[in-house]
Amino acid sequence: MCGIVGYVGPRDCTDVLVSALTKLEYRGYDSAGIAVFENGRIEVAKTKGRLADLTQKMEKEGKPKGHAGIGHTRWATHGEPSDVNSHPHSGRRVTIVHNGIIENYKQLKQFLIENDRNEFLSDTDTEVVAQLLDFYYDGDPIRCIRKTLHELRGSFALGIIFADRPETVYAVRCESPLIVGQGQDEVFIASDVPAIIKYTKNYYLLEQGEIAILKDGSAEFRSLHGRPLKKELLFADWDEDSAEKGGYPHYMLKEIHEQPTAVKTTITPRIEDGLPNLSECGIIFGTLRNLKNIFIVACGTAMHAGMVGKYVIEKLARVSVTVDIASEFRYRDPLLTHDDLIIIISQSGETADSKAVLSLAKSRGAKTLAIVNVKGSSIAREADMVIYTHAGPEIAVASTKAYMVQLAVMYLFAFETALAKGKLEEKECRRLTAALLKMPDVIEKTINKVVDMCQYVSTKLITADSLLYIGRGLDYALSMEGSLKLKEISYIHSESYAAGELKHGTISLITEGMPVIAVATQNTLLEKTVSNIKEVKARGAMTIVICDEEADIDADAVDYMIRIPKINETLMPMVATVPMQLLAYYTSVNKGNDVDKPRNLAKSVTVE
Ligand code: G6P
Repeated sequence: MCGIVGYVGPRDCTDVLVSALTKLEYRGYDSAGIAVFENGRIEVAKTKGRLADLTQKMEKEGKPKGHAGIGHTRWATHGEPSDVNSHPHSGRRVTIVHNGIIENYKQLKQFLIENDRNEFLSDTDTEVVAQLLDFYYDGDPIRCIRKTLHELRGSFALGIIFADRPETVYAVRCESPLIVGQGQDEVFIASDVPAIIKYTKNYYLLEQGEIAILKDGSAEFRSLHGRPLKKELLFADWDEDSAEKGGYPHYMLKEIHEQPTAVKTTITPRIEDGLPNLSECGIIFGTLRNLKNIFIVACGTAMHAGMVGKYVIEKLARVSVTVDIASEFRYRDPLLTHDDLIIIISQSGETADSKAVLSLAKSRGAKTLAIVNVKGSSIAREADMVIYTHAGPEIAVASTKAYMVQLAVMYLFAFETALAKGKLEEKECRRLTAALLKMPDVIEKTINKVVDMCQYVSTKLITADSLLYIGRGLDYALSMEGSLKLKEISYIHSESYAAGELKHGTISLITEGMPVIAVATQNTLLEKTVSNIKEVKARGAMTIVICDEEADIDADAVDYMIRIPKINETLMPMVATVPMQLLAYYTSVNKGNDVDKPRNLAKSVTVE
């Protein structure tokens, strides 16, 4: 999704804006632009393409020089990626950058046209906002912003500059995230913390409808009603290095290697005396004991973590779990009661559909639990209970370490619920918890063990047009994520299929050499999965099998075997996901793709 930055301070503003925008590249974008006050005038530079294209353009045509301005990376929603549709957009006296969607922009455009304001150059909803601000501007920026906000429907964050207010940047947030960074005599706005971490770790989180005024190196805040606000200064406990590549060729590979630490940091504080303890997250034993139904609702990778959670919670705690896609759940008038628990899983805590589900669940009186990585994000703040995952910033669009810690939390939650419901003996719970505590070491060992094999096997995948992932039980839940990982960064079509369901249609797709990746880590289902592997092998498939070191699988049925450490069967997904991540990573690298920023995708989907 789009990224917004802004700066007021002594440094070269253009350099700061471009550097901050590079830290938001992970959000996905197709054009970039800045607007800077140069000797009291607003100078704009923008282009379709990457930030490198913008820099090149500025080298040729002149780089705006000044100390206050705004910048933007655009992920096209209204209007194709083009120079003219790129942000910033301007009215006569107002220039803005915008993240999000203005739902009623057509009506507003009509209103402006009817009022002799037919000055639109682009196809964007953003330009309508710039023109509307201009229409209401009577010399008082706050009054004009408030009036405009009153008219806008949708989710958005804006960075705004007024031609007659040089050296000042205004910002406002409605749903889409926006922070204000406070440095020594300098101040920033950004869609996310990594953009400013190089300059300062201190920041304010803008809330719904709040307006920030950045001037003379510091920030003031106003409420939606124009009242001055005092806001709490927050501290980002990340160092710059944790938001940088740290020697790895891609963020994705770095993040795969960060998984052991991420899991350790996430689980250790939630284990006390050998048993899970989620009370600091607001989770009370009594609540768990009385749970009737659990709904896990999320999008993308986070939803896949929920699929694993379903198998584990149902198996251990014997409570019914429904997993759903947020964009479906929110519109299907779900049956929810006061006794139900809705778990929203979200790395960013800002995904539009997941946020909407949270509001819906609250309005129906259900209890809500958020499992979120980004501190202070909307979903984390609005849910009744929160379990923060401590993965640190995840920059690669393809999620790896965030998924891994979501799995870890699913296990902690399942163990504690099973204990609360009396479905798991304390002794067994201690045994499982001890096994979970060993996972950081096991994951590290797995990465080292499979990396070469995955790199090699990936060379066999790059020419494929299409492939299948198959598995049963937990292996099926896991292969959904394996398949998504591969398709999103390698651009090879891929499906995950319940192995036992193949014969009901999908097996007709198997042709000579088609890769089938079988996940076979569940011993109780191994024989059955092996039969399915043989069935596809007999029809010409190239079979790649992910199984544990001891699994007894007929070598004739397998072209490439990726052996992973054998641990407690229930915890195998945390191990088996590693080779799937590496297969996807190396396939993408070998195809020469942009691994960290796959085409058409965004890290945080803040619009519907
Ligand atoms: C996007 C990202 C995925 C992510 C999904 C849900 O599609 O590319 O990696 O799983 O959104 O995001 P969330 O922040 O809610 O986990």
